[in-house]
Amino acid sequence: NWTMETFIDKEIARIRQICGEKGRVIGAVSGGVDSSVAAKLMHEAIGDRFHAVMVDNGVLRENEAIQVHKMLFEDLGVNLTVVDASDRFLTKLEGVEDPEQKRKIIGNMFIHVFEEEAAKIEAAAEKELEENPKAEAKGKIEWLLQGTLYPDVIESISFKGPSATIKTHHNVGGLLKDMKLKLIEPLRELFKDEVRALGRLLGIPAHLVGRHPFPGPGLAIRILGPVTREQVKIAQKADTIYIDEIRRAGLYDQISQAFAVLLPVKAVGVQGDKRTYDQVVVLRAVQTEDFMTADWYVFPPEVLRRISSRITNEVAGVNRVTYDISSKPPGTVEWL
Ligand code: XMP
Repeated sequence: NWTMETFIDKEIARIRQICGEKGRVIGAVSGGVDSSVAAKLMHEAIGDRFHAVMVDNGVLRENEAIQVHKMLFEDLGVNLTVVDASDRFLTKLEGVEDPEQKRKIIGNMFIHVFEEEAAKIEAAAEKELEENPKAEAKGKIEWLLQGTLYPDVIESISFKGPSATIKTHHNVGGLLKDMKLKLIEPLRELFKDEVRALGRLLGIPAHLVGRHPFPGPGLAIRILGPVTREQVKIAQKADTIYIDEIRRAGLYDQISQAFAVLLPVKAVGVQGDKRTYDQVVVLRAVQTEDFMTADWYVFPPEVLRRISSRITNEVAGVNRVTYDISSKPPGTVEWL
């Protein structure tokens, strides 16, 4: 007689048992549904002995770090630190065009920043302990939280799927070795739709629970060519308008993933009585069951018309919007 309510109670009891009376748990959050649900569950189980860390890598969506802070910390009470490392990431990414290089830089820097933050939390814990022996109840960081789902568990034991080998996905395996952290994976028996149901029960807002996936390397793989602050701003603005209009049209839940891509080419246009020479934005939207294959999404024309007119009017530096009508295969979902 399995229900999500009994799952929550059992899982919280299991986490408490695994973690014992003391010892801290650290986990990265991204603003995605899996890491948010896992974080909230840990908070329910062990309160402030769980530390969530969000790394702002400079290639997040517009206002993403602020929104995650509001949701997880202010609304849900999760013990969260947001680390603004955008300068460090963007400096490392300067001049880099190769997509795998972008992924490696972001993956490695992420691990580095996350480890630094873990060390800071550990140092603060030791200081607290010196000042107040009662703080011993919290102890050292012993666990690393990961929002691994059942399909990831299966994939990693049985085969390396194309997404794992064609494009590098990063993880924080180094932490396990260097800090001798043990792994805790409260979602490892769940499918995505179950994680969403769990999220709703835990009070995660509906718009987050149903969110499209967002890749770890973020906008860096949606900006073709070099990633600069200016390019990030343009990509963020286009993305915000695109997603807002999809939501307003009530189409968000029919689409598996939608995003804007910024091309590194300039095209001629005309605005008022002036000739312009500006960049091109590509809109991508797909429907898929498992992201291994995907169909491009057929929009009502008036929605595309509104998106295009808003992007060209509101995003400086863009004078042309195109729609991607490629399926996977042969195209992948992302352009890089
Ligand atoms: P592709 O482009 O391989 O995308 O058809 C399939 C799904 O994987 C996501 N994706 C990534 N996610 N790091 C991630 O965390 C990555 O480097 C990465 N590359 C692709 C993509 O957004 C889509 O949901």
